Amino acid sequence: MEYWSIGVLEYWGLSHHSITPSLQHPGFFKEVTMAEVVNVKNIGLRGVTVADTKVSFIDGEKGILIYRGYRIEELAERSSFMEVAYLLLEGVLPDKKQLESFDRAVKAARELPGFVYDSLKRWPKEAKPMDVLQAAVPILAMADPDLEDESREANVRKAIRLIARMPIVVAAYHRIRQGETPFQPDESLPHAANFLWLLHGRKPDSETARDLDTCLTLHADHTFNASTFACREVVSTRAHMYAGVSAGIGALSGSLHGGANAQVMRMLLDLESEKDIPGWVRKTLERGDRIMGMGHAVYKTMDPRAKFLKEMGARLGKKTGNERLHQLSMLIEQAGLAEFGRRGKTEIQPNVDFYSAPVYHMMGIPGDIMTPIFAISRASGWCAHIIEEKFGEAQGKPALYRPQAEYVGQYCGLMGCTYEGINRRTA
Ligand SMILES: CC(C)(COP(=O)(O)OP(=O)(O)OC[C@H]1O[C@@H](n2cnc3c(N)ncnc32)[C@H](O)[C@@H]1OP(=O)(O)O)[C@@H](O)C(=O)NCCC(=O)NCCS
Repeated sequence: MEYWSIGVLEYWGLSHHSITPSLQHPGFFKEVTMAEVVNVKNIGLRGVTVADTKVSFIDGEKGILIYRGYRIEELAERSSFMEVAYLLLEGVLPDKKQLESFDRAVKAARELPGFVYDSLKRWPKEAKPMDVLQAAVPILAMADPDLEDESREANVRKAIRLIARMPIVVAAYHRIRQGETPFQPDESLPHAANFLWLLHGRKPDSETARDLDTCLTLHADHTFNASTFACREVVSTRAHMYAGVSAGIGALSGSLHGGANAQVMRMLLDLESEKDIPGWVRKTLERGDRIMGMGHAVYKTMDPRAKFLKEMGARLGKKTGNERLHQLSMLIEQAGLAEFGRRGKTEIQPNVDFYSAPVYHMMGIPGDIMTPIFAISRASGWCAHIIEEKFGEAQGKPALYRPQAEYVGQYCGLMGCTYEGINRRTA
């Protein structure tokens, strides 16, 4: 509130929380009119800039996503998830030696401590893998020798352990819930290939491993989405990285966020024998339900990651004999675009989850492991944001997040309401 004077606020009948931060700049006296002042309550912080970041950038109008200056398309085509994770954490692309050393460190950190396996074995076999992952992260914290060390270097080491171990937890729990013994990580396999090996017990062909690696790159970061904000908010209290990542996993699990991919898969399976897709889309919207995998809080055009995954889905459909599934996705997309267009909502277009779900299905990944895959990729972005938050790397100094809310509940004045003993209360 640097640039507002209380006198001006009172003149407009405003209090701090009802001022759009975009108006907080020098020279506002000339530029701002009453019509431009919006109330920022209950809009999910849309359009409210809460921090600076150097990690990633989105142009929602043009459908552009950039990590540390690099376009997502170029990274997806030419880079690898390990390289992208290094880029996000360190801010620059690694040279060959740095990449080899980072890759070695991730591989060396893959082994889970015995007590983590023991915990996983005790949990109900019906538990949701996202709950298991969220619960396992603080348990991993207990095995981190750097937990008390809050230097940047130690936080990078924690990030490496999280990136290495979260996939192992997901795959191990998947085996355990089937009554099987988890497979051991394979030193010779790169990150994505090792995950598929641990999940399925067979080594993937190089093309499938490369495709999953590309998916991990595409999901690695996305500015101040709900889960990243949750991570940053938690560590702004000086809580450790594991506490932040665990909060991020919780936020990601919701169906409006990362949980949407599992819902998309459910929709596709439900619609396998549906003949009238446009009719189904129309009825769904008439009921006030959402088409999962469409729409985005920031993109007003097609999500650039969805374009990539759509092409991958077409190729994998042919390769795996799942062309019908890919065609079904395209039919829902077309019908959705037409119906949203008729309703004047042309900005509602496929997002990352719309085509990642069928892609994962074609890789043999179960529906409830799809959101955990999002998490094992996003761990890299979360950790980069956590480090940025902890060390004030994009702005002056770290600050505890503490927004305000307007109290609209019962109020009996500053002395408080009269507390009646329980026997004197009437319903
Ligand atoms: C992601 C999402 C929450 C972003 O939406 P948003 O920008 O915050 O906007 P809102 O949720 O306020 O929606 C705005 C309007 O569009 C409608 N809308 C947005 N996405 C829709 C969808 N997928 N299906 C149907 N209607 C949708 C809302 O119902 C709302 O309609 P109204 O104005 O008549 O109430 C929303 O698009 C959505 O729920 N999508 C489906 C879930 C999903 O795929 N999530 C993953 C995101 S990566």
